[in-house]
Amino acid sequence: MRERLVFSVSGKGGVGKTTTSALLSRVFAEKTARSMLLVDADPVMNLPRVMGVEIPASVGDIATQMRKSIDDGTLPASAAKQDILEGDIFESLVEGDRYDFLAMGRTEGEGCYCYVNRLLTQILDRLSSNYEITLLDMSAGLEHFSRRTNRNVDILIIVIDSSRAAFEAALRIRDLAKEVHIDFKKLVVIGNRIPDNLVDAVSQGLEENGLYLAGMIPNDDEVAKLNYLGKPVFELPDDSPALKAVEAIAENLGLLSEATMLKLLGQ
Ligand SMILES: Nc1ncnc2c1ncn2[C@@H]1O[C@H](COP(=O)(O)OP(=O)(O)OP(=O)(O)O)[C@@H](O)[C@H]1O
Ligand SMILES: [Mg+2]
Repeated sequence: MRERLVFSVSGKGGVGKTTTSALLSRVFAEKTARSMLLVDADPVMNLPRVMGVEIPASVGDIATQMRKSIDDGTLPASAAKQDILEGDIFESLVEGDRYDFLAMGRTEGEGCYCYVNRLLTQILDRLSSNYEITLLDMSAGLEHFSRRTNRNVDILIIVIDSSRAAFEAALRIRDLAKEVHIDFKKLVVIGNRIPDNLVDAVSQGLEENGLYLAGMIPNDDEVAKLNYLGKPVFELPDDSPALKAVEAIAENLGLLSEATMLKLLGQ
């Protein structure tokens, strides 16, 4: 078994996290032979559409169902809840040729179901350990950092556009990840749709704040069009500028070759 790597893609709302996650997973699927789990960790669940995947049930739906059964007593106290939850989650996994897909969704209900949440965490950790790459498309908010959904992340990717707010969100995410001890090995920033007249300023701003700019994704009309039409990124032509840019970023980061990937992780 090769090294397992967990990526998460964070950033301010609307900067292009889902697009970047989808493009990156296409690059991994086409340019590496690694097994991959793609996780939509955003309750809004945009990633399935962008990847062209139908989700039978989200982890949230499954957990909500279990919580209800616990509350109304239909689940016998003796039932092995972890096994039931795990079985249902494994069943909800969409298995594709090139990657498997899991949508976290949203859990309903109030109150603290720490028990179910703890089970979920364990199950997801176990699931993710079966894949060489796990890629998490995160929500725009920062709550997931305090919930530590991405506590096992190796490579934290922060996407920014040219807005000041996106830049400040990047700094905040970096600080927050450290505060809550997310033990990432590498943090990289990807600039999306940065206008030419700002490229230098953005690069400099990141450098001054100790952030590493892994590369830029240009505005790509075809990406916007496919999104509007509800079509997956797999329909983008191979020479699409956004796809090419993400391929170059993955290459630059050493993610497409075994040896350089290990070097990136300092191993
Ligand atoms: N490089 C690009 N070229 C053209 N359109 C893009 C590009 N990047 C993102 N978009 C478009 O911008 C919109 C927002 O992108 P996306 O959904 O990836 O952002 P997000 O950060 O995931 O948003 P949210 O915070 O809502 O999850 C989408 O319509 C997407 O198609
Ligand atoms: Mg998104």
